[in-house]
Order: sequence, then structure tokens, then C-alpha cells
Amino acid sequence: MNILAIESSCDETAAAVVADGRHVLSNIISSQIPLHTLYGGVVPEIASRAHIEAIDPVVQEALQRAGLSLQDVDAVAVTYGPGLVGALLVGVAYGKALAFGAGKPLLGVNHIEGHVSAAFLEHPELEPPFLCLIVSGGHTNLAFLEDYGRFRIIGSTRDDAAGEAFDKVARAIGLGYPGGPKIEKAAREGNPEAIHFPRGKVEEAPYDFTFSGMKSAVLNYLNHAEMTGESVSQADVAASFQAAVIDVLTERAGLALREFKQDKLVLAGGVAANGALREALDRCCRAAGASLYAPSPLLCTDNAAMIGAAAYYRYQKGERAGWDLNAVPYLEL
Ligand code: KG4
Ligand code: ZN
Repeated sequence: MNILAIESSCDETAAAVVADGRHVLSNIISSQIPLHTLYGGVVPEIASRAHIEAIDPVVQEALQRAGLSLQDVDAVAVTYGPGLVGALLVGVAYGKALAFGAGKPLLGVNHIEGHVSAAFLEHPELEPPFLCLIVSGGHTNLAFLEDYGRFRIIGSTRDDAAGEAFDKVARAIGLGYPGGPKIEKAAREGNPEAIHFPRGKVEEAPYDFTFSGMKSAVLNYLNHAEMTGESVSQADVAASFQAAVIDVLTERAGLALREFKQDKLVLAGGVAANGALREALDRCCRAAGASLYAPSPLLCTDNAAMIGAAAYYRYQKGERAGWDLNAVPYLEL
């Protein structure tokens, strides 16, 4: 069964064809990074406009690379939330029109469920239930995928998402957008023990996260250095901040693996592309007798193949979206 999937929730216009929820036949991503770099972050209106320009060629290329025509696909799937409303609307309107015109069933997919489903694309043996650590620009959760499409959240961030903290710290130390990959690169030249940033905990909620204290500590460190005229090593701040985030994520994941006696951890979301995090979680999983499933970096950040994977299992359960499908910017898991 071939699903044509579309993703436009933030700053990538993406389309993919996925067979049986597991095999990527094509995966096209048009990034808007150069457009937003000038402003230091994603500008929603610019993102929507860029999606409108890119979506048709991106979808056509996905079909062409898969060697299929629209008539050969069995369903059209589209991300309908969470994300930027104007950006989501482009994909939703396009996906609906395409499916309606071709007489194909339509599926609406939750973007975060998509991120977790990316793991199915490279691990044919992987099946729920498993523990997942979701770390993106807008979300940070520890959750169980109890069955395809059925999540039970055991921990969430109380303030910033992990990716958001990377982006804000990157801006503060002058690295700019997109923050995560730039911090990772700078951190390679720095000392992760140079500065101690706090590893925030939430009282009586052992699986919740808080990154705002850590972010404020970085800002205070920078302000203090400026006032006293001390020089700041961008690389040391990046490495020390990254180490603090990784410590918090691995500590919570390790705790959950042991407490809930799990032997599989799926890492999902844009921050999952971070090599140092992957290595630390791999060590943490081994120590807990578990296996880590981390998608290739290209499948960690936003893409449509992950949407096709999630849609397949929804389709198998008989789900179909109506022609009134709309963008839902704050869609919950
Ligand atoms: O999942 P994603 O592509 O979009 C959302 O759904 O939010 O995640 C984007 C986030 C951004 O905050 C970005 O800085 C972060 O993922 N990110 C990284 C890396 N690559 C992307 N964070 C740390 N290290 C990376 N290599
Ligand atoms: Zn995402």
C-alpha cells in the first residue's frame, strides 16, 4: 500500500511516498532555512508563502522519484497539527484538493506521532509497545507508545522544549538560526565541564522537564561576563549547555527505562539528530539493558516519510479524514 504524505507544519515543505508504512520510496524536503536566517528564526508569514511556492514541485518530485503517478497511490496523508497555523493550512488545503480530485482517501496525521513513527522506517522489527523520548523544537515528552497511534504521556516540559532551549541559547551566544546544529558544531571545540549550568528538576514529577532555569543561567553567565569584561568562549558555553541538556534527558530516560522495566527506547524529533545526545542515550540504554532506536538524522528533523509511516497504521485501523479536515495548531498527542 503506497501513501503519498505531505508535511508543512513549520519551515520545511516535504512530501514522500511510503510503502506499507515501512519502506521509503521517496523523501523530498525543501528547506526554508536561508529565508529565515536573516531574521534569526522562523517568520510564520514567510514560511506560509514559501510553502505555497514549494508544495506543488515538491509533491510532483516525490511521485516522480517513487516512479508512481497520483493514480498509483492508495491514500494521501497530511500533517494537520501541531505547528504554525498558516504553514499547516498550505499542506492541509493542498492534500485535501489532491485527494478529492484523484478520488483517494485522506488521512490527517499528528506531527509528533509522525516523529515517533520515523523509527519504523529503519527498524522493520520494531513494534509497540515501547518508551519514547520526543525532543523537538516545540515538544519534549517521555511517553509510551502502547499501540500504533496510542500514546500515554508520562513526562512533559513545564516551560521550554529542548529544541527551543537550543535555539534560544544559540541566539544568545551569537550563533543564530538554526540553533541546534550550530550548538552541536561549536560544542565539538569546547569543554563540556567548563561551566556548570543547572540540571533543573520538577518537584514530585520525576519524568517532567524544565529548561528555563538552564537557559536563564546561560543568559546570566553571558551578562556577568559582559559586565566584568571577561571573554566568553562560545565553544565552552555551547559544550557546557549541550552537556546539561543531555544529562537531563538521559537521566529521565534511564529512570523511566528502569522504573517501567522497558527494553526499547525510541528517540524522536529534531534534537534527536544531535550526535552527542545519541551517544549518551546509547550508553544509558546499554546500562539499563535496553536498545536505542534513533532514526538517521534526516528522518529526525521534519520530513514527510515519517508522516507516511504514521498514516499507514491509522489507515489500517480504518481511520479516514473528512473533507472538512482543518489545521489544528495546538493538536495534542
Ligand atoms: O522536529 P523539528 O525538526 O521541528 C519541530 O517539530 O519542532 O525540530 C527542530 C528543533 C530545532 O529546535 C532545532 O534547533 C533542533 O530541533 N535540532 C537540533 C539539532 N538539529 C535540529 N538540536 C540539537 N542538535 C541538533 N543537531
Ligand atoms: Zn518536527
